[in-house]
Amino acid sequence: MNIDILLGLQWGDEGKGKIVDAISPGYDIIARFQGGPNAGHSLEFHNVKHVLHLIPSGIFHRSKMNIIGNGVVIDPAVFRKEVETLGLSIEELTERLVISTRANLILPGHRILDAAYEHRKGNTKIGSTLKGIGPAYTDKAGRNGLRAGEILKTSFRDMYNERLKDHLTILRSYDFSFDISEYEAGWFEGIELMKKFRIVNTEYLINNLISHGKRMLAEGAQGTMLDIDFGSYPFVTSSNTISAGACTGLGISPKQVGEIFGIFKAYCTRVGSGPFPTELNDQTGNILRERGHEFGSTTGRPRRCGWLDLPALKYAIMINGVTKLFMTKSDVMSGFDNVKVCTSYISGGKKCEEIPFGSDDIEPVYKDLPGWKEDISRIREFDDLPVNLRNYIRIVEEQTGVPVTIVSVGPDREETIFRE
Ligand code: GDP
Ligand code: IMO
Ligand code: MG
Repeated sequence: MNIDILLGLQWGDEGKGKIVDAISPGYDIIARFQGGPNAGHSLEFHNVKHVLHLIPSGIFHRSKMNIIGNGVVIDPAVFRKEVETLGLSIEELTERLVISTRANLILPGHRILDAAYEHRKGNTKIGSTLKGIGPAYTDKAGRNGLRAGEILKTSFRDMYNERLKDHLTILRSYDFSFDISEYEAGWFEGIELMKKFRIVNTEYLINNLISHGKRMLAEGAQGTMLDIDFGSYPFVTSSNTISAGACTGLGISPKQVGEIFGIFKAYCTRVGSGPFPTELNDQTGNILRERGHEFGSTTGRPRRCGWLDLPALKYAIMINGVTKLFMTKSDVMSGFDNVKVCTSYISGGKKCEEIPFGSDDIEPVYKDLPGWKEDISRIREFDDLPVNLRNYIRIVEEQTGVPVTIVSVGPDREETIFRE
């Protein structure tokens, strides 16, 4: 099998960018298959941190092809900013980065609609990143979207104006002030920049390369608990973040998929609204946030922090068919005398190990485990990790039945323990 998938098993920000960058040398192609600039994927090498929003996390490896697949929604203005701040020349980038003709565009109206919808929701807001994701996928499903392949058409401006008219009609029914021209100028500059890139039918490109023995890593965005179908709806994103999304978001068959790598933090975080059973609204939560620098890579918002939730992790493993687990940020948990993992829930007065539908009334049941205190960031061999951390990993493996084959001990590319 020449295609592997890496995706988040929690509420996003599991460290996907760091690990994709670290394992990219084993692949020829790295491809994003869903989401858009709501994603913020950080990676670090040579003491420099990069945050990617639309561009796949393999971009810093020479000779690798990076693809923005058909399932992604692209905001040309964000794309332009990212291209200009990446530190790679435009010649290099246009060589390495390919865009699907079928990727839908996030229009200026989508961003404003996102803000207007959230404004109207008030206290029940999703906590969206306000990047226009929901409205862009709504127009895609409603068959009103504009796609990357259309930007070269002479009629593109007219097509844009048609969509704008529709968006303005909806917006006028909202009590929400906005200035669309603020976004439009940067957006059209982004369109001009996109024209310099190869915009092709990436489903053909990918399948041809795979049939010639090339290897591809599909890079998920967000996390399983934010999936439009299986996440904590309505507090979710608007795409299928799960492994099945890689097939529809790239045009590949499930038969071609080999490994499904599920990445999780040794604890949990969530940014935005919605249920979070193991959330810690106390000093321990604050310690995790401070030590783990748990502030959003896209919005800068503080992330909610809590203990590892095993029933949620098992659910994510089941939905995705995870074959290998990668664990990040156990270095952040160094220093506690004891740590907890949630092994089941109490819901409606009853103990349960499954996530109940519409899960407002959930109390976690915890198992206490001895913590670890050592600085583990310089450790590169699994057997050199503190015994209590190895015990923690063993419990995760026993509970999930899936091996943990990568342990990340810091944000840098080098701070990675490969267990195989
Ligand atoms: P992504 O969206 O899944 O790519 O994750 P983000 O980049 O949004 O958030 C993960 C954060 O944790 C980033 O700041 C990373 O640099 C950092 N990070 C990743 N792995 C580790 C790790 O093992 N230890 C520590 N301390 N930080 C990590
Ligand atoms: P990465 O790829 C964490 C969250 C938002 C909000 C909900 C809906 O970096 O892991 P949206 O903008 O999609 O309408 O927001 O989903 N969210 C993320 N949280 N990491 C992300 O991406 C996220 N992308 C969206 O905070 O709760
Ligand atoms: Mg992120």
